[in-house]
Amino acid sequence: MKKFKYSEITPEKIYKDRRSFVKQIGYGLGTLSLGIMPFSKNANAANEENKITSYKDITTYNNYYEFGTGKSDPYIRSQNFKTNPWNIRIEGEVDKPIELSIEEILSSFPSEERILKLRCVEGWSMIIPWMGFSLSNLLSKVKLNSKAKFVEFESIYSPDQMSGQKYPVLNWPYKEGLRIDEAMHPLTTLVTGLYNKKLPNQNGAPLRIFIPWKYGFKSAKAIVKIKLVEKMPTSSWMWASPREYGFYSNVNPNVNHPRWSQATERVIGNDIWAPRVKTLMFNGYGDEVANLYSGMDLKKYF
Ligand code: MTE
Repeated sequence: MKKFKYSEITPEKIYKDRRSFVKQIGYGLGTLSLGIMPFSKNANAANEENKITSYKDITTYNNYYEFGTGKSDPYIRSQNFKTNPWNIRIEGEVDKPIELSIEEILSSFPSEERILKLRCVEGWSMIIPWMGFSLSNLLSKVKLNSKAKFVEFESIYSPDQMSGQKYPVLNWPYKEGLRIDEAMHPLTTLVTGLYNKKLPNQNGAPLRIFIPWKYGFKSAKAIVKIKLVEKMPTSSWMWASPREYGFYSNVNPNVNHPRWSQATERVIGNDIWAPRVKTLMFNGYGDEVANLYSGMDLKKYF
């Protein structure tokens, strides 16, 4: 497969927008008008030879514990998973809870291609051409009240279809959370597809979240509920091992997992002898998101 530089894997229009945007106001935030910025200039400098991961690797090397803990389990076991009918409920600290069908979501919020990098806490990474839109577009449709400080995402609970849920590996259903400003950031993406196709079951169909500057486990799959809450939610991973998995889980090469280093990563699809590459702060999206954490001790709030 042809290897791309970051600038080349960025859809041309977006890249041009980004350049003119950068010229206008430097590398600060205020990005709402921009749409999407797949990579920051730091990522560009550090990893010249990035290429989009193959469809095969993206769809056969997965983490989805509802379908088993092996990397190929989700691909093998999720093919008959039922994603229709599918409703998503938005509730909690909102004026009026609503329930939307996946069809309503797909027709009300057009998806665009967003080439974003996934860095898994286990130490591997992929560059994925997702299809999706900003979560903030959806949240702007419900009136949040002043107590809406955090967002909790809940994946489906369906042990008849998901044999992994018969075992207490995690406290099912899978739950994750974000602070409200993280949730409203334009890079926080509701994913509806990849490679310009429908989202495969193993990647979280029909709807999953993706937060590119955080470890992959924050990106809950097969979402059925989005709940606005006042208190910081406890995610499934925090519940399983609070010492290892914090609420923020920002990609941070300076904070090791208690059992392994986070300084480097293995790029899925590279030759097995290829050296690991350096992991970048905020997965390379620091220009866009570092200001969300200014003044915070990121060793303490890991
Ligand atoms: N969501 C659910 N519901 N269950 C899971 O086990 N695994 C997470 C995340 N979302 C997981 C999940 C982890 S650890 C990662 S790295 C990513 O999904 C993997 O996404 P991918 O398989 O699309 O690459």
